[in-house]
Amino acid sequence: MKERGNFGSKMGIILATAGSAVGLGNVWRFPYTAGENGGAAFILLYIGCILLLGIPGMVSEFIVGRHAQANAARAYDVLSKGLPWKFVGYLGILTSTIILGFYAVVAGWCLQYLWASIAGQLNGDADYVRNYFMTFSSDPLKPTLWGVAFIMITHLVVVRGVQKGIERASKLLMPMLFILLLVLVVSSCMLPGAMGGVRFLLHPDFSKLSGSVMLEALGQAFFSLSLGTACLCTYASYFSKLTNLLGSAGQIAILDTLIAVLSGLLIFPAAFSVGVSPDSGPSLIFITLPNVFQQAFAALPVVGYVISIMFYALLVFAALTSTISMHEIGTAFFTEEFTLPRQKSAWIETVVTMLICVFCSLSVGAIPSIKLMGFSLMDFCDRLTANFLLPSGAMLACLFVGWYIPKQIVHDEFTNGGTLKGNLFSIYLFAVRIVCPICITLIFLHQLGFV
Ligand code: PHE
Repeated sequence: MKERGNFGSKMGIILATAGSAVGLGNVWRFPYTAGENGGAAFILLYIGCILLLGIPGMVSEFIVGRHAQANAARAYDVLSKGLPWKFVGYLGILTSTIILGFYAVVAGWCLQYLWASIAGQLNGDADYVRNYFMTFSSDPLKPTLWGVAFIMITHLVVVRGVQKGIERASKLLMPMLFILLLVLVVSSCMLPGAMGGVRFLLHPDFSKLSGSVMLEALGQAFFSLSLGTACLCTYASYFSKLTNLLGSAGQIAILDTLIAVLSGLLIFPAAFSVGVSPDSGPSLIFITLPNVFQQAFAALPVVGYVISIMFYALLVFAALTSTISMHEIGTAFFTEEFTLPRQKSAWIETVVTMLICVFCSLSVGAIPSIKLMGFSLMDFCDRLTANFLLPSGAMLACLFVGWYIPKQIVHDEFTNGGTLKGNLFSIYLFAVRIVCPICITLIFLHQLGFV
């Protein structure tokens, strides 16, 4: 078989994997979820989930991928010695393909809004902006084409390979994303009345905490770290044997959380400064924010114009590094399992995800009758993955590494063959054997209405 791709540098590993983690989940989903669930109190819970479940879960997926040096399905197969654990890999590939399908719909909206900000089409009062979104999203063609275009851009990066495509794109996009974010946060925090938003985000209101907020934080943590999709497992198969798995998971988790909190510091102060409620849900960035930017910078419309372009560019970059990682899971799978050229495999993944994207897009736009179990196809895919497939994937990865594969292999991967010292191994093992399975089981029980 042809030699597999590898990330070329330590920095490439961190940036590409952080690129997968940092996405619409941070800039779009995190702020409104925190806004609806008690601001800083939610953030503290979220950080707890990242430390307790997120990092151990990431390390587990890393261990499977790096040990096997293969796509997710084969990686689980290599380690399962005859038992059908391979299905965990299949599950991850399926999950990421479904996520890519509906994620591309929202990513396509971001692309359209980037274009609309450049063309100055978002100028108008609140009703105008709302109508703009409604007209756009119910159009039979436009949103669908933007979503398909987004997958095509992703395809063009992925076909170039691990180092020349994925690593290079991440090294370019991630620093740009960070700079855009910092500029936006500073501009937003300097607005009159912005401190209300900062206080809201940083002052914990513990009275809002409840079982369901706790579970909300767990779900957000999984989605944000790309956990349970085989994405981390696939990327880890391109890591070098010298990569410190725990250290990398820690750095990526810190970066991911930092970007989520900074996104809150961008959105809340701006929203507070014009008196908009920060808990207006998923529509926050397409219906509320365009108007917030205009009102906040009413005295300097050029600044408002530039800020709006920067914000949608930020969303597009964040989404792209994530869609690349989802696409790579399927591409690696088809390449290795069916010994196809990378080009062909990438096309298979592209066509399948484009089909999902088209139907999801139509289900929330022109053809609302595309429904499954009472939900629009888009909502159905979102719920199926976030509430069921992601937690299942993460739990199975933890059980597999914690209880099934030989402890010696886990130890060797964790310590790079004994060269990394420290006594965190037993804590890690306890987390994946006991803490993660119990917490994830609680999520399921909650969804079934038992807790
Ligand atoms: N972590 C990404 C985000 O926060 C989403 C994602 C999920 C990416 C699953 C890959 C796999 O937007």
